[in-house]
Amino acid sequence: MISDNTSCNVNVERTPCDFTIFGVLGDLSQRNLLPSLYQLEKATLLHPETRVIGVARHELSQEAFLTEVRTKLQTFVHEEVEAVITERLLARMRYVLINLDAPEEYKRLAGAVNPQQRVFVSYFSVAPSLFGPICTGLEHAGLVTPNTRVVLEKPIGRNLASSIEINDLVAKVFNEKQVYRIDHYLGKETVMNLLALRFANSIFTTNWDHNTIDHVQITVAEEVGIGSRWGYFDQAGQLRDMVQNHLMQILTLVAMEPPVNLHDDSLRNEKLKVLKALRPITAKNIDKRVVRGQYGPGFIKGKPVPSYLDEKGGNITSTTETFVAIRVDIDNWRWAGVPFYLRTGKAMACKRSEVVINYKPLPHNIFYDSYRSLPANKLIIRLQPDEGVEIEMLNKVPGISDCLRLQRTMLDLSFSEAFSKERIAGAYERLILEVMQGNQALFIHRDEVESSWLWIDSIQDAWAKANEPPKPYPAGSWGPVASVALLARDEREWEE
Ligand code: BG6
Repeated sequence: MISDNTSCNVNVERTPCDFTIFGVLGDLSQRNLLPSLYQLEKATLLHPETRVIGVARHELSQEAFLTEVRTKLQTFVHEEVEAVITERLLARMRYVLINLDAPEEYKRLAGAVNPQQRVFVSYFSVAPSLFGPICTGLEHAGLVTPNTRVVLEKPIGRNLASSIEINDLVAKVFNEKQVYRIDHYLGKETVMNLLALRFANSIFTTNWDHNTIDHVQITVAEEVGIGSRWGYFDQAGQLRDMVQNHLMQILTLVAMEPPVNLHDDSLRNEKLKVLKALRPITAKNIDKRVVRGQYGPGFIKGKPVPSYLDEKGGNITSTTETFVAIRVDIDNWRWAGVPFYLRTGKAMACKRSEVVINYKPLPHNIFYDSYRSLPANKLIIRLQPDEGVEIEMLNKVPGISDCLRLQRTMLDLSFSEAFSKERIAGAYERLILEVMQGNQALFIHRDEVESSWLWIDSIQDAWAKANEPPKPYPAGSWGPVASVALLARDEREWEE
């Protein structure tokens, strides 16, 4: 997965692959998968003989399909699209019409792929209710061989029971080594950099536990509201949509023990141990541990934004949350007494994802004249946008007239400055390449999904018992006031 020196780029697809996208005309495919394939093509990271097969249930000629892909690339590749690259990609592509519920129709795919000889990846970019039928269809058409891999998009269920059901259906046909569950946050450059930061720098081999860390904050704030995604989102809510997957993954990377290496299960086993050590939230403590919010009308960057309930397709009676803040306790040796505060929401003041490691204050202050109480150090890992790492520390202000005067200063490493020549690859580009190469480390193991749901269910159950509406917050803010109170109760405050 990762090269052992800094200069080589060996992450090129080594064997040809038949990369099949089920739901090729859907939103995820158009916005993320096709543009990522374009970038891989451009970077010549695809094997010359790799083929891309688009599957959908619409009557479409091959020509019409290619025209559609061309148009979508123009819309969703965030740079000027080069015709030569597009045509190179299109030359690999083929459209196959399948009604996904009809096993006999999968024979059509058999003519386009060759899982006996080549790696055969099936990307399920469709609703989870179709995962089972696709598995059956592939099996029916004789397309399940040791070379077959399946990629599952989230959501894998809406609670533990339904995720077990989905995983069981897939497991009837594929063993765990063939299943790649995507969480696109694991493909993000800066999320991966958490591994580098923690395990490639000796200063963090010691300063990473309850001895030195007071608490950790993880924020994933989005500026966008729900827009046209109301139908999907209202069934899910922010806890299922963001916490169960993305925030849990960031949390596990920050909290896990050092893995033995970066191979598939080493990393995943360590993450799993963290998930298993999460203290359950109960009906008794939920009001002190979790804040649930929903945005009302407000302003973002000076523009008026409607409330969640007034968004297109909205239902005025919905109590679905668009914001969650949680105090998480990890019951293990390393993190005893160190709370992790998670916060995520839609329609917030700005788009910002970051991890803030707050160190403990020093036991004794010899700079009393300058600072009554010395502020503790902070390590701020900016995941997006403006990726980078900052350390907030105290330094002496230069000068001889004053007594020794201290000032808070930032050591600031901006990735865009430090690595100005490198293009930051999109998360899906990396993940597509990883699955083509058969590396599972950046995908979620079944046990992780289920452990994570078990913990999320404890919150959902406690909410159901409490039966309280979400707390309102104005669009364009940092969430409900109760979120500030969540930390204030512990005499702490959010990094703003
Ligand atoms: C998706 C969620 O998984 O992640 C969306 O379903 C959310 O609701 C998105 O907007 C955020 O991803 P990113 O990469 O923009 O941070």
